[in-house]
Amino acid sequence: MELNDVIQARRSIRKFKDRPIPQDVLDEMLESVRLAPSAGNAQGHVFGILQDKELKEQVARAAGNQDWIASAPIVFACCADLSWDIADQAEDDFGLIVNRLRFDNDFLDYLCRYPNKKARTTLFENATPLIPMEHIFLTAVSHGLSACFVGYLDIPKINEILRLPDHLTVLYLLPVGYPDETPKIKKRKEVSAFVFHDTWKK
Ligand SMILES: Cc1cc2nc3c(=O)[nH]c(=O)nc-3n(C[C@H](O)[C@H](O)[C@H](O)COP(=O)(O)O)c2cc1C
Repeated sequence: MELNDVIQARRSIRKFKDRPIPQDVLDEMLESVRLAPSAGNAQGHVFGILQDKELKEQVARAAGNQDWIASAPIVFACCADLSWDIADQAEDDFGLIVNRLRFDNDFLDYLCRYPNKKARTTLFENATPLIPMEHIFLTAVSHGLSACFVGYLDIPKINEILRLPDHLTVLYLLPVGYPDETPKIKKRKEVSAFVFHDTWKK
């Protein structure tokens, strides 16, 4: 499929057939993760491949009882490495310099003093798995499979269920499989509603 056909065909799917994902398709999804861009090429994403039925059910319960998640043959646990903490960086660290430019200094100083290190690093890494996840999603669609981003979840609970070490955290789930529903196209804003040219004009 051409990329534009894949983008047009993509829908969030919340009901999956009881049909396994071929190994070559899984391999292609993982390769698409490997090739995803990341800030400073940090590649801080880590993906759990959940296939155990009981484990998928536990994780689905911890995602606000979204039971449909467990119907997917594979649920990716989309995680980030938390080893880089902005609070530990020297003033000439490039990551710190970039973030000082992007965000207000007072806010960063507040975050650095925030006593819960894991909460701070988790917030900082919130976007880390998102681009690789979209690569998986689009690869899945190109092979007739589909997926759904899941961000509504109890992060500490799923970290515990997956027995993740302290330097990792789950941030999203991505159930993937063959669709067993055909959702309607959702309404989207017109392009003119989200675009501006040069400077903002009212
Ligand atoms: C970051 C993110 C988190 C999401 N979390 C959930 C979720 O927890 N549960 C769910 O059913 N859908 C979730 N979705 C799917 C959105 O509801 C869906 O993408 C949106 O309604 C547009 O529909 P479409 O993907 O079919 O075009 C999430 C999507 C994104 C991008």
